[in-house]
Amino acid sequence: MPTSVIVGAQWGDEGKGKIIDILSAKADYIVRYQGGNNAGHTVVIGKDSFILHLIPSGILHKGRICVIGNGVVIDPRALLEEIKMLESRGIKVDGRLFISEEAHVIFPYHKLLDELKEQKKKKIGTTKKGIGPCYADKVARSGIRIIDLLEEDTLKEKLQNNLEEKNAILARIYDAEGFDLNALLKEYADYGRKIKKYISNTKRILNDAVDKGKRVLFEGAQGTLLDVDYGTYPFVTSSNSTAGGASIGSGVGPGRIDKVIGVVKAYTTRVGEGPFPTEFGPDLMKKIRHKGNEFGATTGRPRRCGWFDSVVVRHAIMVNGLDELVVTKLDVLDELDSIKICTGYRFGKTVYDDFPSSIKALTGCQPVYEELPGWNKDTTHVTSYSALPENAKRYLKRMQAVLKTKIVLISVGSDRSQTFSKGA
Ligand code: GDP
Ligand code: IMO
Ligand code: MG
Repeated sequence: MPTSVIVGAQWGDEGKGKIIDILSAKADYIVRYQGGNNAGHTVVIGKDSFILHLIPSGILHKGRICVIGNGVVIDPRALLEEIKMLESRGIKVDGRLFISEEAHVIFPYHKLLDELKEQKKKKIGTTKKGIGPCYADKVARSGIRIIDLLEEDTLKEKLQNNLEEKNAILARIYDAEGFDLNALLKEYADYGRKIKKYISNTKRILNDAVDKGKRVLFEGAQGTLLDVDYGTYPFVTSSNSTAGGASIGSGVGPGRIDKVIGVVKAYTTRVGEGPFPTEFGPDLMKKIRHKGNEFGATTGRPRRCGWFDSVVVRHAIMVNGLDELVVTKLDVLDELDSIKICTGYRFGKTVYDDFPSSIKALTGCQPVYEELPGWNKDTTHVTSYSALPENAKRYLKRMQAVLKTKIVLISVGSDRSQTFSKGA
């Protein structure tokens, strides 16, 4: 493995946290490279359940080094809360967490602007964590970086410039109250002092680790279809959640990455607005949402559910260069008489094999389905591929054939133990 990237191959929440946790047993470094605390990665270990938003899921394995790379946007309040939560539960963070000097900082005005924009009719359905406005400032070259929190004069100058603009926008466009420079300066310089011990040149740390042959796992957040370039734009997040983002967001060049693994649910979900061709009707929606406990790990919102969409996953295989797939939540399909796989979309006279860029086509298209028999048996206690019901194997085999990519790992429950390899 030495360096592997794990990405979501659908619209997020594929079970990346669980898979990262399992792979972390054989890793030295685990790296978040994009997104922020919009992510919610769940790891279940026996009776304990952890939801990680910013800190890599590898933190739950003793001794692993965790890195938050330059491509991540950090809300220091959320970061400190997460560190506190972990330490209160006996997980040592100090000495194991390294945060890039170059990561950008989310300020309260980013969150407020995110919230206010979401009140408009044409909303995205964001997590309201300030992710989009923070990345917008980064690209506009007015963002404030983690290193700036350590230099009070730099922080003051940048914050002052930002507040002049943000307060004017808040007042004139949204009729909302602005922020006070001195109060923010005091609060954020204090965060700087508190997190100073974690702040590092993480690109040097990671490249040195790769030089030494250490095993590095890159933990993607969100999913391919939420990527700002390859997703269902504008119904996406504001970063590159695809594998290419791992290099940009960590400073480890593409030539040093050995493997890219995609995580897929055995069906499909998405949270927020935007097209979703294979979305269920109300009855199946209710049934699968309940059985799969499909409620957002970050916002608690009910997730939209639908059939497995191979057009989506083939697109993810291409744009990420996926070498292997992990299939999660197979058990959620245990109580169905028949199961559908979408193999293409029909829109007017056009049949799409490739994922269309047009939101109009995605919204108006009809999925083309293949139907397979269900297995109607509990798979949550299955511990090997060979012990799966025949129709479950048939479903996975068909999935693999349609996707032309090897499935290596299968998950049938949220616990670490409910995972097995597919074998040859
Ligand atoms: P992530 O954002 O990709 O890390 O995924 P989330 O943690 O947001 O959502 C995945 C949810 O599914 C979590 O509640 C997991 O505990 C749960 N989960 C993961 N794998 C399985 C599985 O194979 N079966 C079931 N039933 N639940 C799973
Ligand atoms: P993990 O890492 C699922 C979605 C939001 C919204 C869109 C933009 O847990 O898979 P944002 O707040 O990022 O500007 O919202 O992206 N979204 C996610 N959906 N899983 C996530 O993360 C998500 N992070 C953002 O619901 O549709
Ligand atoms: Mg999640």
